[in-house]
Amino acid sequence: MGKINIAVLPGDGIGPEIVAQAVKAVDAVAKKFDYQVTYTHALVGASAIDAVGDPYPDQTHQVCMNSDAVLFGAIGDPRFDNNPEAKVRPEQGLLAMRKKLGLYANLRPVETFPSLLHRSPLRHDLVEGADFICVRELTGGLYFGRPQGRSEDGNTAYDTCVYTRSEIERICRLGFEYAAQRRGKLTVVDKANVLATSRLWRETAKQIAAEYPSVEVEYMFVDNAAMKIIQQPRHFDVIVTENMFGDILTDEASVITGSLGLLPSASIGTGTSLFEPIHGSYPQAAGKNIANPIATILSAAMMFEYAFADAEAGAAIRRAVNLSIEKNIVTEDIAPAGVKPSSTSEVGDFIAANI
Ligand code: IPM
Ligand code: MG
Repeated sequence: MGKINIAVLPGDGIGPEIVAQAVKAVDAVAKKFDYQVTYTHALVGASAIDAVGDPYPDQTHQVCMNSDAVLFGAIGDPRFDNNPEAKVRPEQGLLAMRKKLGLYANLRPVETFPSLLHRSPLRHDLVEGADFICVRELTGGLYFGRPQGRSEDGNTAYDTCVYTRSEIERICRLGFEYAAQRRGKLTVVDKANVLATSRLWRETAKQIAAEYPSVEVEYMFVDNAAMKIIQQPRHFDVIVTENMFGDILTDEASVITGSLGLLPSASIGTGTSLFEPIHGSYPQAAGKNIANPIATILSAAMMFEYAFADAEAGAAIRRAVNLSIEKNIVTEDIAPAGVKPSSTSEVGDFIAANI
């Protein structure tokens, strides 16, 4: 299927271990579907701060821009958390990367695996068959609004939530497009009873809705959505929401599937698309070969589907992932009682072998 260039950004904590498993899956797909893959590794996050003092170095940006897709692990290091002295933080690298690559949309599908329903802390009958996708705006809102900071006396802090109509339009349009391709239902999540930005979201979404008569739209306040995701996850088909709400709701939604280690994501926009698990760098597990690589491997499946328009390659990865779950070749976070957990690399080897 031709030559592809993939930028590999393992990042911090468990990032290198889980990305290595996704690379095995990509290699297996390349063999099966005849791709010639060139990988270029680059630094990001705390490991980039340590090496060159910048969490998203220019060189890394060039590597991403010159690639067809970016495979990314995780960012974050406890050395920088709760450390007011830290001048530069690993997370700034992630935000800079999203902004510079123009990745305004983060697609986070939430699907249940039948054989893992027992892992969900929620009742089987509630979560069974849940299948929705959260379209999170990724380059605006509180994460990027300025001014942000502290007053001189240090006793006042402020963040600014900013959205322009065009930023809202492009993300809402994507939400409508996905809803039209799926089950035809879009939930626009906001806090329009309090926030001015949310009122602009709602106004803009209503205008776009007119272009998609086949999509049924509902508007839901974020607090209500947080409740409904847990209470009635099957209610949702596509959710579109702003940056911070999407961040919070998708961590919440991960409990439906039973583990944060299962949810992949795709970030798309104007530059090179990026594929990453939704979980963080899980520093306590770094180097122990125990972290669940499935979210990252499923991110590689999304990479073939979204960046290379190859649904078959994506499906081959998904089938192998499903098999590993069915056969209980899984890490400790999802291993059933009485089953010996497999290591990160064993799960990766099994999945690659079954692609
Ligand atoms: C995520 C993460 C990031 C975010 C952090 C690490 C900055 O939580 O991708 O969801 O808040 O966007
Ligand atoms: Mg998050």
